[in-house]
Amino acid sequence: MNRPNPALSANFVHSQWPHPDCKSHNAPLQCCLSACREESIECSKTGKMLLEIIGALVVGFLLYHFVFGKKDDTLPMGDGWWGPGQRRDDDNEEIRPFKIETSEEELNDLFNRIDQTRYTEPLEGSRFNYGFNSTHLQKVVSYWRNKFDWKKQLEYINQYPHFKTKIEGLDIHFLHAKPKNLPAGRRAKPLIMVHGWPGSFYEFYKIIPLLTDPASHGLSDENFFEVICPSIPGYGFSEASHKQGCNSVDVARIFYKLMQRLGFQEFYAQGGDWGSLVCTNLAQIAPSNVKGLHINMVFVSSFKPVILLSLVLGQYFPGLFGMSDVDVKRMFPIGKKMFGHAVKESGYMHLQATKPDTAGCGLNNSPVGLAAYILEKFSTWTDPDFRDHEDGGLER
Ligand SMILES: *[C@@H]1O[C@H](CO)[C@@H](O)[C@H](O)[C@H]1NC(C)=O
Repeated sequence: MNRPNPALSANFVHSQWPHPDCKSHNAPLQCCLSACREESIECSKTGKMLLEIIGALVVGFLLYHFVFGKKDDTLPMGDGWWGPGQRRDDDNEEIRPFKIETSEEELNDLFNRIDQTRYTEPLEGSRFNYGFNSTHLQKVVSYWRNKFDWKKQLEYINQYPHFKTKIEGLDIHFLHAKPKNLPAGRRAKPLIMVHGWPGSFYEFYKIIPLLTDPASHGLSDENFFEVICPSIPGYGFSEASHKQGCNSVDVARIFYKLMQRLGFQEFYAQGGDWGSLVCTNLAQIAPSNVKGLHINMVFVSSFKPVILLSLVLGQYFPGLFGMSDVDVKRMFPIGKKMFGHAVKESGYMHLQATKPDTAGCGLNNSPVGLAAYILEKFSTWTDPDFRDHEDGGLER
């Protein structure tokens, strides 16, 4: 077929399968391919559907094999040591109060680096489709350089008590917020909350008061929580691993040890993004200690062929798979909305998973580069359509 087939790009809602013309053939794929040569709209639709089914089966098999195949209910606790040099087990288990500070020297260094930044012109009309629009970046940086109130921000960050303690050779940072108005005879439930990327303990600043002091926020005081928000090693103020291979289960074990050190035999866990994996691992390595788990990024691990089928046929028969019009709009065309989106938006992940130190050289040297790298995610991850806004939707 040399001529482009307009039918292939058309948007179909219903389909008849197999095509009536194809009834006499016994191999539907064969039929559809030969029928397509006649440029029959119905058959090209059928062909598209068949290709989608085959594609979905392949993707499904790979997903099943590599992502869902190894899921275990519980995981061994294991052990590790991530400090520099030889393993030493003489860790001081002291919990030291910690305050976040910035010195004049640090701020001057930051301002110097900001002032030295070189910007490249964005491609004409590109908005955020090729990454952060550098013209807009200059606006953000000007605010950061001239208006951002460091003193006020530090006071805000330090409103909760922060601490550091050595675990598995690393200095682990966490904040620990306790209820101020706990009624007599009541006990607060310990809750560890784990952040993700690009994030930090700061993700939880707005929800902490609702958890520690529900009544003052118009909520039922049935539950009071005392909240522990650690920084994942290498994030925020936690020391980064000096050894290779520190993974989410290792981080879960480090946080398990943190909760033990704080005296919590039983506790609740909450996490999103990396935090959802770390907290899930926490529940897997210490099932009798974790009383409850709440995650706001869910990996669906029960794999059923019907899920796969819904990815292909959902757009043609939404009702059959319990999909609403909104679901269909969000998911289809599946190639563009799910796979295309995943490919377009996951380059950072491959880079960070394979050559993090190379990317780190640039990002650590250039605060403006780091700002662009991270803020870009706040644009597209809020709404993929924000790529088409001149400010990446960041000023909404
Ligand atoms: C980049 O952002 C600026 C400021 O928000 C905007 O005026 C400009 O049109 C954008 N440039 C491109 C190429 O999208």
